[in-house]
Amino acid sequence: MNGKINGLVDADQGFVDRSIFIDPEIYKQECRQVFARCWLYLCHESQIPKPGDFCTTTMGEDPVIVWRNEQNKVKAFLNICRHRGNRLCRADSGNAGAFTCAYHGWTYGCNGNLKGVPYQNAAYGNKFNREKWSLVSVAQLESYKGLVFATFDPSAPPLKEYLGEMAWYLDALFDRREEGVEVLAGVHKWIVPCNWKFAAENFGGDSYHGPWSHRSAMSTNFSARRPRKSDIHRFHLSTKNGHCILGRQPEDTSDAPEVVAYEKEGRPKVRERLGPRIDEVRPSVMTVFPNLSCNRGTANSIRMWHPRGPDKTEIWSWVYVDKNAPREVKEATRLASVRSFGPAGTFEQDDIDNWQECTQTARGVVSRDVKLNLQMGLGEERFDEKLGAWTSDFSFSEANHRQFYRRWANLMEAENWSEL
Ligand code: FES
Ligand SMILES: [Fe+2]
Repeated sequence: MNGKINGLVDADQGFVDRSIFIDPEIYKQECRQVFARCWLYLCHESQIPKPGDFCTTTMGEDPVIVWRNEQNKVKAFLNICRHRGNRLCRADSGNAGAFTCAYHGWTYGCNGNLKGVPYQNAAYGNKFNREKWSLVSVAQLESYKGLVFATFDPSAPPLKEYLGEMAWYLDALFDRREEGVEVLAGVHKWIVPCNWKFAAENFGGDSYHGPWSHRSAMSTNFSARRPRKSDIHRFHLSTKNGHCILGRQPEDTSDAPEVVAYEKEGRPKVRERLGPRIDEVRPSVMTVFPNLSCNRGTANSIRMWHPRGPDKTEIWSWVYVDKNAPREVKEATRLASVRSFGPAGTFEQDDIDNWQECTQTARGVVSRDVKLNLQMGLGEERFDEKLGAWTSDFSFSEANHRQFYRRWANLMEAENWSEL
């Protein structure tokens, strides 16, 4: 039975109750209602290009193996042995034809089939049917422009429908050139004491914090980005389904001359691919509901906000680059990315310090009753058919936050997708 959530989020008035960031019961409901039903990002196809390539991740707190089979099809399974639940694969990534459980030695193939059970006859006689004990598959798996997503919910709408208009905003990051992008080898992973929603909504549209929270980082010139007047004028866009975007960035997003030259040379082609909408919005940061965020420019980063409890988030952050960009452009992009975001990134540290305090101050029973204010730009947003999104003319607004929490609250209560 679901707890009542809609009373805790008042998206019309711009209030949010702080228990949604700290209450263990709400967190449990969130794991079931949000993470076990939504389409969640698993990895980029370039990370597992060959048959047998795999990587491990989590969907919510559920451990998952993503594995490319011999027919070149990507599959995903719970990363747990069907015997007694041991974690089957302990590696982050690699190539394997089979996995053997460390506990008693059950072996699984890359279609999830149970291939071997040690001493099968001595242990089970002839009563054991291996076919019944395959790895547990996700309910649906699809990819969009190289981004692989899955859901545990067989009744979830197809990925394209779930993304809706957000697909174009993803194109603006990942489909600028014909060859698409690749994710560079290596990932940063770290745990922070904050609720995952603070991170997801910040990347989905908090233009307001930039000039203040990141003021010192910007003024050092250490990051790839310097303060420019245009930085503070941004569109907030929210397509349906809780996906949110900050849609205006400077034309030149980098200070590195090789990147500036590369972007300039490619601009006509990019415009051709993306169409005239790119003249109106230049997506810079976004959140695909619930917990995938991406940015372009200051850092070309793909990041997951994995929930690890109400007040704990495990961040995974990768750098992506245009696949066919010259080597020096890729390297300059990588350096700019890790300098600004990632555990040692100048911007990242500002953000996390704030998100963790927003979370931890909700532990107090009295503080918990003080509602959050998300009223900026209230009533100013309109649905723009051309942009396929809710937006307003304000440089600063919490319209995206309201859309994010509205979607979250609806999902928390809805028994099925048709109620949304
Ligand atoms: S738990 Fe995996 S073989 Fe026993
Ligand atoms: Fe920030």
